[in-house]
Amino acid sequence: MHHSLRIKGIQKETSESVSIEFEVPSDLIEEFSFKSGQFLTLKHTVNGEELRRSYSLCSTPKSGKLKVVVKQIQNGKFSTFANTKLKTGDHIELGKPAGNFFVETNKQNQKSYTLIAAGSGITPIISILKTILNDEPNSTVNLFYGNKSPELTIFKNKIDELITQFNNNLNVHYIYSKTKGESRFHSGRLEGRKLKKLFKKFAPAHSCDEIFICGPQEMTLSIIDLLENKFNFNSSKIHYELFTAKTTEKSVPLKKSKGSSSATATLNGETIEFVVKKNESILEAGLSAGHDIPFSCQGGVCGVCKCFIGDGKVEMENNIALSDDEVSSGAVLSCQAKVLSPSIKISFDY
Ligand SMILES: Cc1cc2nc3c(=O)[nH]c(=O)nc-3n(C[C@H](O)[C@H](O)[C@H](O)COP(=O)(O)OP(=O)(O)OC[C@H]3O[C@@H](n4cnc5c(N)ncnc54)[C@H](O)[C@@H]3O)c2cc1C
Ligand code: FES
Repeated sequence: MHHSLRIKGIQKETSESVSIEFEVPSDLIEEFSFKSGQFLTLKHTVNGEELRRSYSLCSTPKSGKLKVVVKQIQNGKFSTFANTKLKTGDHIELGKPAGNFFVETNKQNQKSYTLIAAGSGITPIISILKTILNDEPNSTVNLFYGNKSPELTIFKNKIDELITQFNNNLNVHYIYSKTKGESRFHSGRLEGRKLKKLFKKFAPAHSCDEIFICGPQEMTLSIIDLLENKFNFNSSKIHYELFTAKTTEKSVPLKKSKGSSSATATLNGETIEFVVKKNESILEAGLSAGHDIPFSCQGGVCGVCKCFIGDGKVEMENNIALSDDEVSSGAVLSCQAKVLSPSIKISFDY
């Protein structure tokens, strides 16, 4: 279900990114409440094509603001439109906030957090950072933030203000790949080997309680590998968000499905039926049959297309969004699920 929201303000953050704040009507405040780290899905028609894209909220739940940042990607359809054409007063259709990447704070906590972001990956991280600093006076945060240069660093001024405001609780390390950083530790690309040195020098993994990572897939996977295999860090304490993903080692080669299957699904309280052809995903089949099934990335990353399987057998090609617990409880990503049984029962209402 999408709602058309007016753009309250749009502002250049760097030469290649804009922030967009939406006006939330009073009757939708509850619908658009969120946790720090979650994202919105935007639906808009650009040059005659309906696009759906997800953007992490950079504002905090307590600020009452609904704000995202869109970084322009070369030849990117929506990000180029947002950076060059979108203006205050325009309307965009928004799905309600979603996602499993979020922080839950507690005033009593005395935790040590490490946050790692690269480029536009700062958007959910800054929301998480502000929430921790404001809600947990006895916790500390190390932020490792990689960019090409200070000029292209989204929210640099805001983070510098936080350093002044929370100087006992916050340590920030800017790492630049195209200009010299403040020391040899702060120059170069932010990836596993660099992080190994940074962790050892500034944030020993054994003294760290939780780690939040948002950046390119290669960087993220190399850091997780480092944490789990070199530092024996508990994987349940590592949280990460990917904005885009290539096929990963989590991908499984699919069994060849034969013929077609009949699907019966509940969607927005109604029962719908459609046929899933062989080698078609549940999402593709449902959309071609004209049903408004929720989706965004179509790559197994965002989780917007999540559904639950009642009867029947499916197999997912690529799953980044769902945890093992969710999969055990019957959740699947409809954009990645091929049907292996003659019929299937699905629920998109949960
Ligand atoms: C959960 C989630 C949260 C996200 N949050 C943000 C956010 O806060 N800010 C933000 O700017 N983006 C965010 N994204 C990415 C965003 O949804 C779009 O993918 C991105 O803006 C590109 O869309 P586009 O239409 O401009 O590019 P497209 O026209 O879809 O793609 C153009 C080309 O760029 C590649 N591409 C797509 N995304 C990226 C990327 N991020 N980096 C490099 N290459 C890419 C595509 O593979 C394609 O080859 C998020 C994605 C997800 C799944
Ligand atoms: S649409 Fe994003 S995971 Fe399926």
